[in-house]
Amino acid sequence: MPKKRKCLIAGNFKMYLLSEEIKRLARAISDFTVSKKYDDREVMIAPPFPYLFTAASNVNPSFVYIGSQNLYFEKEGAYTGEVSPLMVKDCGASFAIIGHSERRKYFFETEEVLRKKILSAMSAGLIPVYCVGEKIEDRNNNRHFEVVKRQIEEALNDVTFRADNLVIAYEPVWAIGTGVNATPEQAEEMHLFIRKLIAEIRDKGVSENIRILYGGSVKPENIDSLMKMENIDGALVGGASLKAEQFTRIIDYRI
Ligand code: PGA
Repeated sequence: MPKKRKCLIAGNFKMYLLSEEIKRLARAISDFTVSKKYDDREVMIAPPFPYLFTAASNVNPSFVYIGSQNLYFEKEGAYTGEVSPLMVKDCGASFAIIGHSERRKYFFETEEVLRKKILSAMSAGLIPVYCVGEKIEDRNNNRHFEVVKRQIEEALNDVTFRADNLVIAYEPVWAIGTGVNATPEQAEEMHLFIRKLIAEIRDKGVSENIRILYGGSVKPENIDSLMKMENIDGALVGGASLKAEQFTRIIDYRI
C-alpha cells in the first residue's frame, strides 16, 4: 500500500563535520536523490549553522532541502551569538528543527520559548520540524502520552498551523543516539495519538495530512519496518545521516 502522505527523510548532522566533509556528504546525498527521482518522498539535511550555505550550494535544490537545527525567535537585534529565521532562510534553508531534546536538555528550552521559535520560523516562511518525545522514566511510569500531549499543546497553543507548514517529529529521548529504537509498534501508537491530538486542537483535515516523523536510532536495518507503519511519514536521522551510504539507504526505504 502506498503511503498516504509525501514522506520526509531528514538528516540532523548535529555538531559534526567540517566544510569539506559537509560538501562531500551533501553532494553524495543530492546525487543519489536526483538519480532516484522519487515522487513519494522528500529529503532534507540540517548541517550546523556555519555550513547552511555550504550545504545549500552543494545540493540540487529541487531534490534536497536544507534545514537549520535551531534558530532564535527575534527577527534581528542585539542578541550576540544568535541566528534569526531570516538569516537561516537567506542561507538557503526551508526547514528549521525546533525543540530537539538536546536543545531542551542542554539549553533549557521550554515550550514557551519553542512556541515563539515556531511562530517566528513560520513567519519567515520556514517549515518548523517540531520535536517531541518522552524520557525513559516517563515511559516506565506510563506517562509518555501525557508528556507528549503537553509538549504539543503548549508549544502549538494558538498557532494556526497547516499541514504544509509544520512537521512534527516524535523522538523518544531514550532512543536518541542509544542504538535502541522504539519498535515500529511503539512509534505507530504514539504517532496515531499525536494525529488524533492534532485533530482535536486543529482539525481533521490538518491532522490527516500533517507529517509526523520518527526519530531515534533510525538505521538502514530498521527504516523499512518503521516506514511500513501507517502513521509514520518519515524519519529524523542523527548518527546514520553522517554516512552517505547509510543515509542514502534510509532515503531509499522500501515498504
Ligand atoms: P540518532 O539521533 O539517529 O543518532 O538517534 C536522532 C536525532 O537526534 O534526531
